[in-house]
Amino acid sequence: MIWLPVILLLIVYIFINNERKRRKFPPGPWPWPLIGNIYQIDSKNPEKTLNLWRNKYGKIFTIWIPDPLVVLADGELMDINFGKPGETFAGRPHSAIMDLLFKGNYGLMFDENEIYKNQRRFALSTLKNFGFGRNELDPLIIEHAENSLKTEVGRSINGVVNTKRIFTVAIARVIQKLVFYEDLPDVDKIMRLKIVIENLFTDWFNPHWMVLESMPWMRHLEKFGIFNFGIQKAAEYNDEFVEFLESQIEHHKDYLKTNSEPRDYADCFLLEMRKGESPDFNPWQMTIACYDLWSAGVETVTCTLQFAVLYLLRHPEIQEKIRVELKTFEQQNLAYTYANLRTLAYYNAFFQEIHRLTNVIPFSLTHEMLEPAEIEGYKFPAGTCVIAQLACFNLNPKHFPEPEKFKPERHLDEQGNLKPDPLLHPFSIGRRSCLGEALARPELLLVLATILRNYR
Ligand code: HEM
Repeated sequence: MIWLPVILLLIVYIFINNERKRRKFPPGPWPWPLIGNIYQIDSKNPEKTLNLWRNKYGKIFTIWIPDPLVVLADGELMDINFGKPGETFAGRPHSAIMDLLFKGNYGLMFDENEIYKNQRRFALSTLKNFGFGRNELDPLIIEHAENSLKTEVGRSINGVVNTKRIFTVAIARVIQKLVFYEDLPDVDKIMRLKIVIENLFTDWFNPHWMVLESMPWMRHLEKFGIFNFGIQKAAEYNDEFVEFLESQIEHHKDYLKTNSEPRDYADCFLLEMRKGESPDFNPWQMTIACYDLWSAGVETVTCTLQFAVLYLLRHPEIQEKIRVELKTFEQQNLAYTYANLRTLAYYNAFFQEIHRLTNVIPFSLTHEMLEPAEIEGYKFPAGTCVIAQLACFNLNPKHFPEPEKFKPERHLDEQGNLKPDPLLHPFSIGRRSCLGEALARPELLLVLATILRNYR
């Protein structure tokens, strides 16, 4: 009997403590002790839940997963904060899942805050030397798109083609060239890697993983078969992908034994390691940086292109308009380059609409504040975690009338010119915005144009 008041007191304490912690943050859904809001989030469509909360709590709110995460659900707030000069929002939090799967925060997406700037700068400048973000890369993208298309059409039965294979193979070969130079002739191997990546990406929204983030010891329950977090399965996929990357890196070590001219990101990284000037250039950091480039590079672009094809199939009239626009290139004897495709108002409006409606990545990754910051009157200490709900405006009827409808025209002015939309942030903004944007944008335009020039 003596235990009853103790338990009651404990419950009261937990609830009071919960409320005390909440007071320091913007309002949001009420969090349960220990699990916060984790199991209130629709894991198949987390964006839907966050949209509901945005409507209820406004442009800044807090969710507890189970640690507090401040959500910026307003384009202007994102611009002002993520976009401001300095390092305030440039951090990534330490992650227990990263510890479990990657032995710590490594790579380019979640690397330690002390090293991210150098690693990001090195990746961008190295990749640029090999054509990233420059028009020299156009022929490579077109060549892989044409070859992949030809192969897939060649193996089609009754005219049915697998667009996922076309896009995956083309896009994977482009990033493969930049990171590892040598082509991957085995299409089945590429498709296997894609499945591995897909499975790894899906799990990042697994609510059980959010529980593990704050209580990593619970993973032992999986070992004893008490609860399945999916960590074991993810670790197997992870090992398979890492094995592929390490075999590529081994080839590079062999190459550099007899050659000194770097051909790609991997060669440059190994040469940097050989200099021995910085401990941040180490073998594991290299593996995970290649992991991030390869996986982020393939998954996002392929997925966006697949959605583009789906919308074109549902809207043959839109397909026809794009084709008419593309035809002007032949009439004017213009090459199919990214720079030229950028001038096509309707085609670019089409992609703007694709980004709006598909939201391949609806939120930024988690940012950690590296310095104290004040947002909307709330004072946050350094270390506070924050995400931007990038797609928060995309279905708002005030900004986009009839938001569910696919209408590229909404991005054109009266003269038919493209209106760049300051509310659309598919690649996020600021210091930690997408590192691959300068590659993704030409890939999208060039690969789809290659298909539309040849097929309906
Ligand atoms: C349609 C294509 C793509 C979309 C929509 C997209 C979107 C994003 C978004 C929203 C982020 C998170 C930014 C943040 O946390 O604020 C991100 C990060 C990142 N993306 Fe992309 N991405 C795309 C293509 C690519 C490609 C092709 C690559 C690689 C070549 C790439 C590499 C990365 C990397 C390395 C990061 C982490 C950057 C950092 O933390 O500093 N992405 N991307």
